[in-house]
Amino acid sequence: MSVTIVAGGFWGDEGKGKVCAYLAVTDRPAVIARAGVGPNAGHTFEFEGRKYIMRQVPCGFVYPQARLLIGPGVLVNPDVTLREIEVAGAADRVGIDAKCTVIEPEHIEADKGSAHLSQTVGTTATGCGPANEARTARRARLARDFPALQPYLADVAGEVNDAINHGLSVLVEGTQGFGLSLYHGDYPFVTSKDTTASTFCADVGIGPTRVTDVILILKAYASRVGQGPFPTELPIEEVARRGWEEFGAVTGRRRRIGEFDFAFARRSAMLNGATQLAITNLDRRFPEVLGITRRDELPAEVQIFLARVAEEIGVPVTLISTGPKIEHMIDER
Ligand code: IMP
Ligand code: MG
Repeated sequence: MSVTIVAGGFWGDEGKGKVCAYLAVTDRPAVIARAGVGPNAGHTFEFEGRKYIMRQVPCGFVYPQARLLIGPGVLVNPDVTLREIEVAGAADRVGIDAKCTVIEPEHIEADKGSAHLSQTVGTTATGCGPANEARTARRARLARDFPALQPYLADVAGEVNDAINHGLSVLVEGTQGFGLSLYHGDYPFVTSKDTTASTFCADVGIGPTRVTDVILILKAYASRVGQGPFPTELPIEEVARRGWEEFGAVTGRRRRIGEFDFAFARRSAMLNGATQLAITNLDRRFPEVLGITRRDELPAEVQIFLARVAEEIGVPVTLISTGPKIEHMIDER
């Protein structure tokens, strides 16, 4: 039995989707719950030759026995969610907490229409900030108020804690990344909620004493979309030279790219209480590692990089993603 939280260590887009899909098919958790802000996140992964971008339904749907939950702390866009339930073929096992805040068209309009949000902060224009404002103002409408969501309504905290009490494993998929936290990030260049493991627990209703592991996801280089400080950012030409270009899964925006930031990662691990590190996109940084599944087969310079990550952050690297496919993984847990 274990309760595992997956959290992003940089500014989102660290590869949480791939790691969550991998953990789902490998560890077979009975319950997989999505935490985090809402459909501003796009978790991308490839599975059985298909590419998925999941914004609401947990990526763990690829393990067909898992109950798939969306915690009450998560914002729900009904159209996006219903479409993803269909894509995942998971209508019989998705539960949306009755208390999830619903993103309404006016929230999306407000996100797009505000120069502060769309330009100064550079939001994803998905209505998340304004919907969280409505929630704190105590005037939001919740999932329970929408007929289209009735078939899926659930008590996520009740289900997750029942599972834990019955000795079953639970996987919590956090979204965004540490640098985007409303409290711990570079305010005001942040998202509309905290994005650390503690809040992911609250999002789904798990008390902190019940957590077994926090797996912090770090990309082998760093990226950021939207405005705000990015100390290790590289010039666009250098990014192109290294072949590290990326575009946003939700907005299509060009991501800003930078070197791996050891100091930032150390702080991120500390505030998340990370017990393990997952390093992703290693094949983008070191193309020769594509598909390798054993650490001792990695070239020496790559092993040195991974050893430095573990040493400087003070947390073991237990998962190493060496390519886009689920099976492209070194698992030393
Ligand atoms: P919002 O979350 O749409 O309000 O956007 C606030 C900031 O967080 C912007 O800089 C976005 O680009 C960033 N952001 C929000 N969600 C994600 C994500 O999942 N990945 C990367 N950046 C994100
Ligand atoms: Mg993303």
